[in-house]
Amino acid sequence: MHNPKKRMKLEPLRSFSSPTSILIRKPPISPYLLFTFLAFIIFAIFLYGEDLRCIIGQHHHLHLDHINPNPLPLSAATEKHQIHDTKLPFSVGEEEKECDVFSGRWVWDPVNHPLYKESECPYIQPQLTCQEHGRPDRDYQFWRWQPHACSLPSFNASLMLETLRNKRMMFVGDSLNRGQYVSMVCLLHSLIPDNAKSMETFGSLTVFTAKNYNATIEFYWAPFLLESNADDAVIHRISDRIVRKGSINKHGKHWKGVDIIVFNTYLWWMTDADFKILHGSFNDEVKQIVEVSTDDAYRMMMKSMMRWIKENMDPNKTRVFFTGMSPTHQMSIEWGGNPNGRCYNQTKMIADPNYWGSDSKKNIMKIIGDVFRESKFPITFLNITQLSLYRKDAHTSIYKKQWNPLTPEQIANPSSYADCIHWCLPGLQDTWNELLFSKLFFP
Ligand SMILES: *[C@@H]1O[C@H](CO)[C@@H](O)[C@H](O)[C@H]1NC(C)=O
Ligand SMILES: *[C@@H]1O[C@H](CO)[C@@H](O)[C@H](O)[C@H]1NC(C)=O
Ligand SMILES: *[C@@H]1O[C@H](CO)[C@@H](O)[C@H](O)[C@H]1NC(C)=O
Ligand SMILES: *[C@@H]1O[C@H](CO)[C@@H](O)[C@H](O)[C@H]1NC(C)=O
Ligand SMILES: *[C@@H]1O[C@H](CO)[C@@H](O)[C@H](O)[C@H]1NC(C)=O
Repeated sequence: MHNPKKRMKLEPLRSFSSPTSILIRKPPISPYLLFTFLAFIIFAIFLYGEDLRCIIGQHHHLHLDHINPNPLPLSAATEKHQIHDTKLPFSVGEEEKECDVFSGRWVWDPVNHPLYKESECPYIQPQLTCQEHGRPDRDYQFWRWQPHACSLPSFNASLMLETLRNKRMMFVGDSLNRGQYVSMVCLLHSLIPDNAKSMETFGSLTVFTAKNYNATIEFYWAPFLLESNADDAVIHRISDRIVRKGSINKHGKHWKGVDIIVFNTYLWWMTDADFKILHGSFNDEVKQIVEVSTDDAYRMMMKSMMRWIKENMDPNKTRVFFTGMSPTHQMSIEWGGNPNGRCYNQTKMIADPNYWGSDSKKNIMKIIGDVFRESKFPITFLNITQLSLYRKDAHTSIYKKQWNPLTPEQIANPSSYADCIHWCLPGLQDTWNELLFSKLFFP
């Protein structure tokens, strides 16, 4: 009655196949719903301001060019598991065509999950330590993602670290990508003795160093990838967002030479009005601003990113990932709940396998698909949107460090200040990294 799942095999990676095509559904959406959704998005953006305040790293002067961009050959330990000859384990991959690892279901797995304990990972920022901030339940930590057509390989921290030996891995994007970054550090750090690891912040860049591996895992704050007026790593509560056209190298110059790069960018593009694109420079006295639709702005950014990757990265040396849209759970009415509710007090996931929430994600998904399909550079798309959409139980909600004192009105209505954007760690984002791991080694 059940087919044994196909295990992914360690295989040399040969070719890359582009993402599968997209289904576009267009159910009608009422203007009221749309308005409320956008209002929540704006509210949500204010939550971002808190992101970096807790990372109080020493602000050293940083020499970005101290690291040689050329990755060394694999260490012997990795080599014997991998892969023939000179091929990097993370060069260009062959898809298990019959298995879309992003299509699957959540399975209760308290034996193997969570993959680490919240209290044993000192790198989690206090916005994501839900247990420490009083979350009464822990069920959100025990789920494993089970693809329909195969099984994910177990996350092997020592294989991951061996692969990173003499290399740099960098996450670039917004606070959601920083969550995935911290998850990756938490998945690996327990194998490194205390005196051989450190995490430091230098402006927009946070660097975790595994000294005995000569490896770094880094996070670079660039919520739009392009230059914007929200680039300050700490103070970026900007309601009137402006992105400068053609400016990707402003940040991109700091990404050159990394061996594995993981991009994300989505939520910051979601505005209620047209999107403001600056032609020229932020220093111009008279700023030339053109307003375009969010879709056009997002497509423009994707094209800039692709061009930058093509011009600055070597597909034989670098693995490029792009993490898809991280969904929010700001309106319980979207999953048939209480009309005024949000993710607060949600401890169960959404059971409807076709649940997709609000409509606004569809255009962006289509743009991502179109751009990657046209690309000759192999990019691995981590299509985590659907699997995360089920997880209304996995947000930090009210169980996080509050930077401002709560008002009596907020205390009386916890739902009003619940964070339904970010995710508790350990939790959902560890699964994103299990998927990244599977794509890195078994693409
Ligand atoms: C991502 O997955 C969704 C289903 O969850 C699918 O509709 C969409 O086409 C996929 N996107 C891409 C670009 O492959
Ligand atoms: C350390 O790693 C960097 C790349 O991140 C590399 O350029 C350098 O040669 C490595 N050092 C040693 C001693 O292997
Ligand atoms: C994990 O990877 C290492 C190689 O770094 C290997 O020796 C070990 O057997 C792997 N563990 C599992 C459980 O596959
Ligand atoms: C990547 O390697 C292949 C085979 O070694 C080679 O033909 C190709 O030109 C290389 N591509 C780049 C961009 O260097
Ligand atoms: C939380 O949800 C449970 C049911 O799941 C309900 O009984 C309880 O009243 C809710 N608590 C609050 C504060 O909304």
